[in-house]
Amino acid sequence: MRLIMNNQPIGIFDSGIGGITVLKKIIEILPNEEYIYYADTKNAPYGIKPKDEVKRHIQESIKFLISQKVKAIVVACNTATSIAIKDIRKKCKIPIVGIEPAAKTAVERRKNKKILIMATPITIREEKLNDLLKSLSAQNSTDLIAMPKLVEFAENREFESDKVKQYIKKELKEYNIDDYSELVLGCTHFLFFKKALSDIFPDSVEIIDGSIGVAKRLKNILQEQDLLGNNILNIKYYYSGERAENEEELNELLISYK
Ligand code: DGL
Repeated sequence: MRLIMNNQPIGIFDSGIGGITVLKKIIEILPNEEYIYYADTKNAPYGIKPKDEVKRHIQESIKFLISQKVKAIVVACNTATSIAIKDIRKKCKIPIVGIEPAAKTAVERRKNKKILIMATPITIREEKLNDLLKSLSAQNSTDLIAMPKLVEFAENREFESDKVKQYIKKELKEYNIDDYSELVLGCTHFLFFKKALSDIFPDSVEIIDGSIGVAKRLKNILQEQDLLGNNILNIKYYYSGERAENEEELNELLISYK
């Protein structure tokens, strides 16, 4: 007997609403699935907390998703991927897909200038990203910048306000934005700020993220393992183990995100 069935749901996990940007890309190519979107809002933001504490929160979240009998999990959080993906893979028998800053794509597409990667403080500090840059021989052509407050702005649904733009400009003060030809959004929450960022950076800067790559990887894995569903699209949202009461608002966010 098969242990995993095709019509079990897919779990999508993030500390908050950031992973909704990834869910959107996944639904576009995998519409016949049921999804459980799990936001660990009680413990967000992750990126500025001690690593061991965040690891514990991630473990709890994954445990919950497993209890919901998901057939696969997408860790739609760069921070969680960077510190816990190996542990999660070790503990779970189902397919696990993580997300990391799309440095490889940026290196492949790099034009004449440097690459700027925006992420949380944890992601920037961790070995995973620094090893990736080393393997791409991109340490000297890449700068890293932490933008932790954008996570807070996103959780407050503040995406384009003057306060948001002032904060981004303030954090960029030490950087010359004309030095870059690619901007990598290495935190899923940051994808909600594409408009604000494109207002600040020159038009020549290409904004890159890894969400489409994650969606394609998930589809490939499900196909390979004969696990594609034939469900009617359905999404259930959870906040740290409790069913979210504002599902309509979250669905709106999902629909309006481009
Ligand atoms: N959305 C997450 C990421 O991609 C983390 C945000 C946070 O909780 O700090 O890194």
